[in-house]
Amino acid sequence: MEPVNAAIIYYSSTGTVHALAVAAAEGAEKAGARVRLRKVPELAPPEAIDANPAWARHARDTADIAEAALDDLVWADAVLFGTPTRFGNPSMQIKAFIDTTGGLWRQGGRLAGKVYSAFTSTGTAHGGQESTILALGNVFYHWGGIIVPPGYTDPVQFELGNPYGTSHRAADGPPGEVPLKAAGYQARRAVDVAAALKAGRFA
Ligand SMILES: Cc1cc2nc3c(=O)[nH]c(=O)nc-3n(C[C@H](O)[C@H](O)[C@H](O)COP(=O)(O)O)c2cc1C
Repeated sequence: MEPVNAAIIYYSSTGTVHALAVAAAEGAEKAGARVRLRKVPELAPPEAIDANPAWARHARDTADIAEAALDDLVWADAVLFGTPTRFGNPSMQIKAFIDTTGGLWRQGGRLAGKVYSAFTSTGTAHGGQESTILALGNVFYHWGGIIVPPGYTDPVQFELGNPYGTSHRAADGPPGEVPLKAAGYQARRAVDVAAALKAGRFA
């Protein structure tokens, strides 16, 4: 059988979600998927980025990562979206990318039937981890996607404590062992479900 194609599409200003995205990409690869790790285009003005040294450094450090394109969605059997919380919602950057998908969506469900999952980071513990992931879920419903959350289906989920998707509190510093392991697990689960669907569909 053809391997699963997994796209990890994310936005990150200061590196937290980027670290989770890399861990997700590694998890998907270990699960046997072909992987595209893609950042969505930055929309903030350069002066806003330059005013924040951590943001400017992260932008420089990830300059080589390819930007997400609509073809990545068409190509993928499983898509994991990562975004920092902005007032309890996804960032404008990830939303702007999503809002370019209208043409695909109109073409008879070209975004449908794929596996979707989401991860996030916040500044504070109750700053909107679940609401951000659930907001991305609204999009997946409209696309006719198959939403695959991690739930409590692996021991690492009891350590992480978020069944909706991997999340991390940026105030605690960069994601440590548990969120990175959880991101890898979330991607593996998405790939495993996509593989089962692909096998069933093309057998
Ligand atoms: C405009 C703005 C709004 C934010 N809103 C929230 C929020 O509602 N809740 C929260 O906990 N953190 C909030 N934050 C903090 C970010 O979520 C946090 O810096 C981010 O998760 C770090 O991820 P990154 O390192 O990948 O950029 C906000 C940050 C900005 C700039």
